[in-house]
Amino acid sequence: MKKTTAKKVPAKRSGQRRQTGVLLERTDKVVTKDKGTVLKIFGPSYKVSAILNEAMNEARAAETGLPVAKVLEVLKIRDHWCIRREWVEGDTLADVMAKDKKNLVRYLKSFVAIQCQIFAKTSERMGNLADKLDKQISASPLPKETRYDLHMKLQSFPRGKSLCHGDFNPTNVIITPKGDWRVIDWSHVRLGDPLADVARTYLLFWLSGHVAAAEKYMALACEALKVKLPDVQKWLPIVAAAESSRDQTPKNHELLVHWASVVDIE
Ligand SMILES: Nc1ncnc2c1ncn2[C@@H]1O[C@H](COP(=O)(O)OP(=O)(O)OP(=O)(O)O)[C@@H](O)[C@H]1O
Ligand SMILES: [Mg+2]
Repeated sequence: MKKTTAKKVPAKRSGQRRQTGVLLERTDKVVTKDKGTVLKIFGPSYKVSAILNEAMNEARAAETGLPVAKVLEVLKIRDHWCIRREWVEGDTLADVMAKDKKNLVRYLKSFVAIQCQIFAKTSERMGNLADKLDKQISASPLPKETRYDLHMKLQSFPRGKSLCHGDFNPTNVIITPKGDWRVIDWSHVRLGDPLADVARTYLLFWLSGHVAAAEKYMALACEALKVKLPDVQKWLPIVAAAESSRDQTPKNHELLVHWASVVDIE
């Protein structure tokens, strides 16, 4: 069943990877393939409310009609809360891009087209991105004056009602063997201004060390959304400040603080 108008992504050697076992391991979270489904197992540092909220966000994303991996159940295995999702056969777009570097632009165009299809959706009873950003700025390690300026700046920006994935990056897009796509990992989804989500994706490319891809992505996203570069760049201090409340690794901290402190990007 064809679910989108975005061009199909050529999937190289789809489905040969990630057949069994651990898909991702973090200090306090493990994602595994389990009995033909995906099990995300959370450690004790996660609040139960955050886990239930993640499952709820995934369910709401599915209700928009977008192609996603549906939530199957929320369960407890011994002391661990878990979310079980449908397994999607294929490779992540990140893997496909890494294997086929010469087609970067083609993959980025598909990536942007998918993001625009998400922006075209909205949802009832979903929180607004601006409120989340506001809270994250308050929780960031930035000086009081910088935080104040950023709160003011955010207030002057449009709130928007578009569905914004919130962690839109190529590891969260799976390309099926047929070349269709599914977007996973909706824990950060909110309604907001698409340009804020584009700024965040640009930042994610940078933080993962893919600077050339970041710049190309930004240009393609501006073209697709028919906006000028500064329209997106004005969101960068906001999203960088918000991210600095979560990512305090020495490697990224300096960059985030720098971006958060740039008053106006020309
Ligand atoms: N439904 C699915 N079908 C196939 N693979 C999946 C599915 N869900 C997750 N994966 C694989 O597991 C990886 C991690 O899953 P997920 O994106 O949910 O974790 P995460 O919370 O993003 O982790 P982090 O944000 O710390 O990177 C994905 O990048 C993908 O490779
Ligand atoms: Mg993910």
